[in-house]
Amino acid sequence: MSRTIILLGPPGVGKGTQGVRLADALGWERIVTGDLLRAARRQGSELGQRARRYMDAGELVPDEVVVGLVEEKVSRVPDETGIIFDGFPRTVAQAQALDGVLAEHDREVERIVLLEAPDEVLVKRLAGRRSCPECGAVYNVHFGPPEEEGTCDRCGHDLVHREDDRPETVRRRLDVYREETEPLVEFYDESPCEVVRVDGDRPVDEVQEAVRSAVAGDGGSGSP
Ligand code: AP5
Repeated sequence: MSRTIILLGPPGVGKGTQGVRLADALGWERIVTGDLLRAARRQGSELGQRARRYMDAGELVPDEVVVGLVEEKVSRVPDETGIIFDGFPRTVAQAQALDGVLAEHDREVERIVLLEAPDEVLVKRLAGRRSCPECGAVYNVHFGPPEEEGTCDRCGHDLVHREDDRPETVRRRLDVYREETEPLVEFYDESPCEVVRVDGDRPVDEVQEAVRSAVAGDGGSGSP
């Protein structure tokens, strides 16, 4: 059976930053519901229009919308390729739906990597985040700026400060995380999946080493 892991953690903790590196290193597929929803918004689809209201307010998009997107995406991943979920599931209902989707493809969630950092760190990171709407690259004006201010190093597109990274929306996203997503930790703690906690309040390379050890289950070598 191909491997399937979930990167879980609050907004700004580094799921995207770590997920990109991990997927590159392992040759796995990343399924990122935030990116799928932003793509739907850019395309102006009905689903995208519907999602916009929730996203801009820092609320979760309804479960059936994201589960439908994930279902479609999983069906396109070759059987032999590992999957990293980033930003999904975010509710217990989504986690239960995911089990059903994966079972149809002879997969199951193997491990949860839970990234953690204090709220003040998350707020500062999101205030400084700049994202490329074209290729999805992520920068930070404080911790990892692009070579040329406001321009993506990878594709040259103008960078944006995400609408939902404004401080008042970030505060709401953190509340929503505590209320709706944190219960997932208990859900998975009580399941056969292993939950591995990783301190995300360290330099990116150190966190990556810990994430790769967590995925490998080797307790510290850092290799996948
Ligand atoms: P989504 O896009 O998934 O946002 P999120 O989960 O809130 O996560 P972020 O993308 O904000 O943070 P991240 O952990 O990936 O951090 P990053 O690596 O970028 O979702 C957006 C919205 O879509 C939701 O609010 C909701 O409305 C909707 N949605 C999505 N999925 C959904 C679902 N399943 N159900 C319902 N609704 C859904 O890092 C942040 C910054 O910090 C960057 O600038 C980065 O450069 C920097 N950084 C990262 N690591 C470090 C480090 N170690 N040290 C210093 N800086 C660092």
